[in-house]
Amino acid sequence: MLPSERTCPFTPDLPICRLLNGLWQVSGGHGRIDPAAAVDDMLRYHDAGFTTWDLADHYGPAEDFIGQFRRRLVARSGPQALDQMQAFTKWVPSPGPMTRQVVEQAVDVSRRRMETETLDLLQFHWWDYRDGRYLDALEHLAALRAAGKLRHLGLTNFDTQRLEIMLQRSLPIVSNQVQYSLVDRRPEVAMAPFCQEHGVVLFTYGTLLGGLLSERFLGRPEPGSRELTTSSLRKYKQMIDAWGGWALFQELLQAADQIARRHEVSIANVAVRAILDRPAVAGVIVGARLGLAEHLADNARVFSVRLDAEDWARLDAVQAKSRDLFRVIGDCGDEYRR
Ligand SMILES: NC(=O)c1ccc[n+]([C@@H]2O[C@H](COP(=O)([O-])OP(=O)(O)OC[C@H]3O[C@@H](n4cnc5c(N)ncnc54)[C@H](OP(=O)(O)O)[C@@H]3O)[C@@H](O)[C@H]2O)c1
Repeated sequence: MLPSERTCPFTPDLPICRLLNGLWQVSGGHGRIDPAAAVDDMLRYHDAGFTTWDLADHYGPAEDFIGQFRRRLVARSGPQALDQMQAFTKWVPSPGPMTRQVVEQAVDVSRRRMETETLDLLQFHWWDYRDGRYLDALEHLAALRAAGKLRHLGLTNFDTQRLEIMLQRSLPIVSNQVQYSLVDRRPEVAMAPFCQEHGVVLFTYGTLLGGLLSERFLGRPEPGSRELTTSSLRKYKQMIDAWGGWALFQELLQAADQIARRHEVSIANVAVRAILDRPAVAGVIVGARLGLAEHLADNARVFSVRLDAEDWARLDAVQAKSRDLFRVIGDCGDEYRR
């Protein structure tokens, strides 16, 4: 069983670990992943209480790993053990007609790969708002939910305006997955207040900036492409550049380090805790390079720290010097719009 401070009832029927394991890191671009070692590691994460997984149809073998992991769990602990894990996948379709057949086929592929009758949460992505067929897809997904093929319907990288349209149509959206960190605080402008008002929750990614928000980069000169060894590090270094650059980021790391020392935790713990406590946030996703690198013991400390007003004053003082990313990029997910 999970210690209670780690869990939250994401929905009344589905408790989750609020620190989710992200599986983009097994899809390539993050080092060579050995499938057997990866699935072994999944059991260790699960046993350590990190029972909730975030993945996608296009994250390489991630959905297959969930299938293998589920089988291993049943072989070891019996079928009831499956009730203790949750796997949230995504569907990221290429543009095209969104008929019932197209949508159902995609859902069935994920169900088959993940070896489950019912997907816990399907998070839907769309590339181009000028193409209104995202609403067709969501209507079909809602019907498939009613038919029992998915338990919950969520989104990823949608903006506030589109979320409002969906809720006006009574689409049963429970969550939106967005980039949210001490550098990228765009969700605070419109998305989080709207979600809070309408009972939708946020799952966040990029909260550790691929590992940039840690002691490893404190006091270090600006990293070049040689040191940015994963797709994730490269992605979020660009975000830092847009936000205010490396010198300002060092100020943020120093502020986070002071807070971390004050609470006897790590910079990563401060970065995750800060976002976990923001309004509407149900969980923070932390990428897991299964079989290659592991931070289980450190990340478990997130649940024993709380930031206070003094800590937030330090963080906000740095944020006040940065560019306004909502103005520079736009609302949540606008960086993905074609
Ligand atoms: N919806 C979307 O569009 C979208 C986009 C991106 C990501 N995601 C989701 O979010 C997940 C997270 O990925 P991300 O790219 O945003 O990466 P991230 O979570 O910001 O960073 C993950 C990296 O942080 C480092 N790390 C983890 N815990 C640490 C600790 N306690 N101390 C120091 N370093 C630590 C690890 O680096 P090392 O492995 O090098 O040690 C890890 O690989 C993905 O797997 C995916 O599920 C979703």
